Amino acid sequence: MKASESETLVVGGGIAGCAAALAADRDGGDVVLATKATRPEETNSYWAQGGVAVTRSDPETFREDIIGAGAGACDPAAVETLVREARPAVEDVLVETLGVPFDTDGDGFDYGREAAHSESRILHVDAATGAAILPRFLEHLREETAVTVREDTAALDLITHEGRVHGALLERDGDVSAHFAGGTVLATGGIGAAYDRTTNPDAATGDGIAMGALAGADVADMEYVQFHPTAFAGEEENGTFLLSEAVRGKGAVLRNGDGERFMPDVHSDGSLAPRDVVARAVATERAETGEVRLDVSEVAFESSFPGLAKRCRDRGVDPAEGIPVAPAEHFCCGGLAVDMDGRTSLDRLFAAGECARTGVHGANRLASTSLLEGLVVGRRAGRGAVGTLPERVEVSEPRDSDPDLPARFATEKGDRLRRTMTEHVGIERTSDGLRRAATSIRRLKGEVDAYTRTRTSRELYELRNATVTALLVVRAATENDESRGCHYLADTEVQYAD
Ligand code: SIN
Repeated sequence: MKASESETLVVGGGIAGCAAALAADRDGGDVVLATKATRPEETNSYWAQGGVAVTRSDPETFREDIIGAGAGACDPAAVETLVREARPAVEDVLVETLGVPFDTDGDGFDYGREAAHSESRILHVDAATGAAILPRFLEHLREETAVTVREDTAALDLITHEGRVHGALLERDGDVSAHFAGGTVLATGGIGAAYDRTTNPDAATGDGIAMGALAGADVADMEYVQFHPTAFAGEEENGTFLLSEAVRGKGAVLRNGDGERFMPDVHSDGSLAPRDVVARAVATERAETGEVRLDVSEVAFESSFPGLAKRCRDRGVDPAEGIPVAPAEHFCCGGLAVDMDGRTSLDRLFAAGECARTGVHGANRLASTSLLEGLVVGRRAGRGAVGTLPERVEVSEPRDSDPDLPARFATEKGDRLRRTMTEHVGIERTSDGLRRAATSIRRLKGEVDAYTRTRTSRELYELRNATVTALLVVRAATENDESRGCHYLADTEVQYAD
């Protein structure tokens, strides 16, 4: 088999992967960043709208807001590190190195506000913050550093030997090769491809979580899958997009099919209540009154959110008449269990960003902390993944590649997975639904595994990864009978109360 090597291998081209590669490069490492994306738009980070939260008045309120949204399940030490390093990391990487043009007002940065934040503290670029960061970051890595960026290159499996990770099998154009690394950082993003309606791009197939788990790494908190309350709800299920919480932060409100504001009866913070609370209320009102609309009549929507206004009009909706919204899978709060240096339970394997679980997000992530966490933990993981030389261990020959895998197989199995997860493992769960989901997804995994034993097509591995992460979500949800944050059980008596 063809082979290559580097001191550090980063898998994933979103903000966490880019931050890890930059940090490793600055520490003198020889770094390869492999991303299956061919354009920044294919990463989840690109689509992050709200922005990057940083400390304003005092760190304590920021810490309290993260822990409050997380429904008491956050790791306070992890939150402390994130809050402490937020502003220095943003200033160093995003402002000074990349020159991200964050919006300003007359006095400096124009700090935005989103749900469950007790003050305006979010740096943003319109409501397209990820789109302002990602292309710059990738270009900086390519033009200004020694990092080798390998696009259209998927990681299929980790290379392991005696409990230690030595790199990954990489695939490009159907060719599989071994890439050996002294330190491997997984930064592959989320799991949205396992659900019908998601704010994630198609590439969010849970690759890092699945590869890590299959290699034996610990995972945690997988039951906490966050649904964003306001994704565009057009005629078709596909092609939804996020309507940032920043729109509600500026004064937009939610109205049900009878034109009534329902959030004030649900939570004292109304439309800016924690995300899990708003998402459940939106789902309930859609079921009971037919639809929910985001009323932007009190917001300068066209001038403050021109990109979103255009996308609504492109989909035949005049924002002035209220924008139809529905909850959509948005963020996996769980993932590969890591410390704040991104260290997993496997030697020489690191993880950062959405595929990692640091303990910062607890049972429900606070808005605009995901780019931030990717940046802070990505940097730390990149530094940790430098300094060990790659070792070439024995790797078994890959099976014949089969780029002609019947597309129908992947589509049909993927549809089945999405239907099952949406019906039984979505915003509201029951023990019976979780049992059904477990049976159905286990069967599906058996069918997919039968194919992966003989073929190495990328599409098939993505399906395997989505199926493995779905099973991890179902298992964690089944084992946790306490309803808390994003894990809402309709039929349990064990309710978290703060
Ligand atoms: C949003 O803009 O509403 C999403 C921000 C986030 O998920 O952190």
